[in-house]
Amino acid sequence: MAAITQTLLTLLESGDRVLCHRSVYDWTDTFFREEAPRFGITTAQVDLRDLTAVDKALQTPTKLVYFEPLSNPGLDLIDVPAVVELAHDAGAVVVVDNTFLTPYLFKPLRVGADVVIHTATKYLSGHGDAMGGIAISNDQALMDRIRRGRNIYGGVISPFNAFLIMRGIGSLHVRMPAHCANALQVAEFLHDHPQVADVRYPGLPDDHGHGVATRLLQAGYGGMLG
Ligand SMILES: Cc1ncc(COP(=O)(O)O)c(C=O)c1O
Repeated sequence: MAAITQTLLTLLESGDRVLCHRSVYDWTDTFFREEAPRFGITTAQVDLRDLTAVDKALQTPTKLVYFEPLSNPGLDLIDVPAVVELAHDAGAVVVVDNTFLTPYLFKPLRVGADVVIHTATKYLSGHGDAMGGIAISNDQALMDRIRRGRNIYGGVISPFNAFLIMRGIGSLHVRMPAHCANALQVAEFLHDHPQVADVRYPGLPDDHGHGVATRLLQAGYGGMLG
C-alpha cells in the first residue's frame, strides 16, 4: 500500500480529480473514498470496461486515471491501451496496479501506462515471507518525483525483504504458468458444476473479459478466479 499511497500523494494535489475503476483493492478504494478527500482530492468511480462511460467521465478535467488491469476482487479485465489513449487525450496520467497479472502476463508500460505498481508481497515474492511494493515508470521525471515522495513519506523496503523478493522474482516464470493452468482447471470444473451459479475467470470463453484478455495477455489468464 505504501507504493500506492506514496505515488498518489506525490502526483496529486488539492483540487485534483481522479477517475478510478468502479472496483479496486479494498484499501486503495478506502484511500480514494476516505483519505484523499481530506487533501482536497476527489474521485469519480465508473466501470472502465465501458469506454463510452470513460470518455464521458473524462470530459470533466481529470489529473489521473487509476485502475487494476485485472481488478481485485471483481476480476474485471480492462482494455488498457484503449483507456490509456482516452486518458492521454484528456491530459491525464495513467497509474495502474498490475498485481493480479504480474509482468509475466502483462506489461502495462508497453501499452502506454505512465506508472505501474505491484504489491511484491504476493506473486513477485511468491513465498509469503516478505512484504514490499514497487512503483515503476519509464518517464524519468515521474520516477524522480515518485522517489522523492518515497523519501518524504518513508515507505522504504527493508534490505532483507528486498533480498527475499529478488529471490522470488527469479522463479516467477516457473510459478505463473502453473498458477494459470491450475486456475483454468478449477474454473472449468466450477463452470460445469450444477451447483455453481457463476464463475469469474478471464480464461473462460463466456467471461466478460475473455476477448480483451486474449488480445492483451501474453501467456495465460492469471491465477485468480471468483
Ligand atoms: C491488487 C492489490 N493491490 C495492493 C494490495 C496491497 O498490498 P500489500 O498487502 O503488500 O500492502 C493488495 C493486497 O492484497 C492487492 O491485492
